[in-house]
Amino acid sequence: MVDTQNLMSREMDIDRPCAARIYDAFLGGSHNFGVERGFVERVEAALPGITETYRENRAFVRRTVEYLLAHGIRQFLDLGSGIPTIGHVHEIARRRTRDFRVLYVDNEPLTVAHSRPLLADEPRAAIIEADCRDPESVLRSPAATGLLDLDQPTAVLMSAMLHFVPDGDTPAALVERYRKAVVPGSHLAVSHITGDYDPGAAGTLESFYAETTDPLIARSPQWIDELFGDFEVLPPGTSYLTDWRPDPDQAAARPRYRILYGGLARKLG
Ligand SMILES: C[S@@+](CC[C@H](N)C(=O)[O-])C[C@H]1O[C@@H](n2cnc3c(N)ncnc32)[C@H](O)[C@@H]1O
Repeated sequence: MVDTQNLMSREMDIDRPCAARIYDAFLGGSHNFGVERGFVERVEAALPGITETYRENRAFVRRTVEYLLAHGIRQFLDLGSGIPTIGHVHEIARRRTRDFRVLYVDNEPLTVAHSRPLLADEPRAAIIEADCRDPESVLRSPAATGLLDLDQPTAVLMSAMLHFVPDGDTPAALVERYRKAVVPGSHLAVSHITGDYDPGAAGTLESFYAETTDPLIARSPQWIDELFGDFEVLPPGTSYLTDWRPDPDQAAARPRYRILYGGLARKLG
């Protein structure tokens, strides 16, 4: 269990690449610095075509949110949101409905500072600077209680976030606390790096991220599967992200690096 007393506010560090801005740089965004753009160039040189893997993750988020909206979910708690640009949850939601709420949570101070102006004109979405390893602070924050009604079904999104939570911080127990905090009909979406199919690529990424503010840990598909606990895992089950409900007019992409794994599950009544 994480000692939340010791979860200090994260220091701002712009001398080393950070996960949020690396992701933004891979997606072609403008909220990143030279240190992240240089990192992206070096990773792409070591793993040609890896940029597509980052896009696969974002496409998984989009398909997940579209599925949830189509199935009546209107509240989203996006843990480890990064900078909500380039087709993020509130943008997907407002294409379908006026009735939605999104709370973004990230612990990287500059990410949150960059995100606030982007959300200034959207009263149905907000971002808070908080550490997801402290679920009670996240869920009881004024932003969460003001924006979300946790007595209503909520989608908890943990996309490309948990691989930044070290084993010592008991990530599986952490996910269980979020599972318990939401009512039946709620959903949990997870994507995570795995090294089981392509250990070379996953290991290379781990080595690169070791020099960032956010070291990364690949885990097994079985470990990722078990995060869903007693929730009902929805078809097609946990899978490589490109195999997870590909767009109907498209065959599943054939990823160069099969390192992204995840799925979506629903809490039963
Ligand atoms: C790669 S981005 C993922 C963005 C988005 N979830 C997606 O999948 O499109 C991972 C984000 O998780 C954040 N993060 C990592 N550990 C965190 C923690 N303990 N609490 C809150 N945010 C965290 C990082 O700052 C980063 O912005």
